[in-house]
Amino acid sequence: MATERTLSIIKPDAVAKNAIGEIIARFEKAGLKVVAAKMLHLSDEQAGGFYAEHKERPFFKDLVGFMTSGPVVVQVLEGDDAIAKNRDLMGATNPKEAAPGTIRADFAETIDANAVHGSDSPASAEREVAYFFSADEIHSR
Ligand code: PPS
Repeated sequence: MATERTLSIIKPDAVAKNAIGEIIARFEKAGLKVVAAKMLHLSDEQAGGFYAEHKERPFFKDLVGFMTSGPVVVQVLEGDDAIAKNRDLMGATNPKEAAPGTIRADFAETIDANAVHGSDSPASAEREVAYFFSADEIHSR
């Protein structure tokens, strides 16, 4: 299994619920290491640039509005198969379809406020990690 890095975002709804620690504990218990982390209150430009691939989607404005509604915690997670492992821990995009015990099933109610983001491929992980972190902010261990 390859060691990978993936970008995780704890979204404003989960930060507002005081769930940062519980969510990060799930990553760590699953063998993922937090090798970089910061709390940010995203600007429209930062959120819009991050989700640029969804610019033409009908929900784009709502997504940017939600992601700028409060602080988020962005992290780089590292470990074996980190991209897929994180997506398994997160559960389906729509919390109503998320498997029991996943982060979205336990901490989110709606598709537009769904607690966490995780990179969906090696290419997006590379872009997303570099979007928020410079090389000297990542502490591989
Ligand atoms: S795709 O094309 O499969 O990647 O799209 P999807 O994963 O379904 O969604 C991409 C991100 O958009 C968010 N999303 C929404 N936001 C607001 N309203 C609605 N209706 C909506 N549908 C999807 C979804 O949470 C995804 O965010 P991230 O942060 O990538 O998980």
